[in-house]
Amino acid sequence: MNRASVARAPGIQVFDLLLICSNKTTKKGYAVKLVRLLPALFALSCLPALAADDGAKLIAKYNCLGCHAVDHKIVGPAYKDVAARYRGQKGAEAMLMQEVRAGTKGKWGGPVAMPPQQISDTDLKVIVQWILAQK
Ligand code: HEC
Repeated sequence: MNRASVARAPGIQVFDLLLICSNKTTKKGYAVKLVRLLPALFALSCLPALAADDGAKLIAKYNCLGCHAVDHKIVGPAYKDVAARYRGQKGAEAMLMQEVRAGTKGKWGGPVAMPPQQISDTDLKVIVQWILAQK
């Protein structure tokens, strides 16, 4: 639609034009709002997953997975077995933090010792809490 045709039948066409424009603006407005909202929505929807994944990411980062899996024994015990053994025990979290840091041998009956691990307190706490939550 060009200006000439608007000029020829101003009544209807200007009205139409306004309608189209306002529709477009509204749609675009919504689109812009939606696009701005998307990252926020995305972040929100990821929050629970992120929290749940933290421990999983950290055990990958610290190479615990070379010797451990959640649901089966590799060299070290399955994390769900570790959880089953200690969950609900008083002081289990602190004890496991200490054991992971210092390394252990003989507690799980295997010939292999768990070597000492160098992990920050913060990460180790997240990891141990995550291990204790495995089922
Ligand atoms: C070289 C192999 C190896 C690596 C790497 C390893 N572990 Fe282990 N882990 C073991 C073995 C073997 C045991 C069982 C030791 C025992 O019988 O006392 C064990 C035991 C454990 C236990 C149970 C301790 C207890 O007191 O019952 C936890 C928890 C654990 N590991 C966490 C970790 C975490 C977290 C990491 C990474 C930061 C890690 N392990 C890396 C081999 C390993």
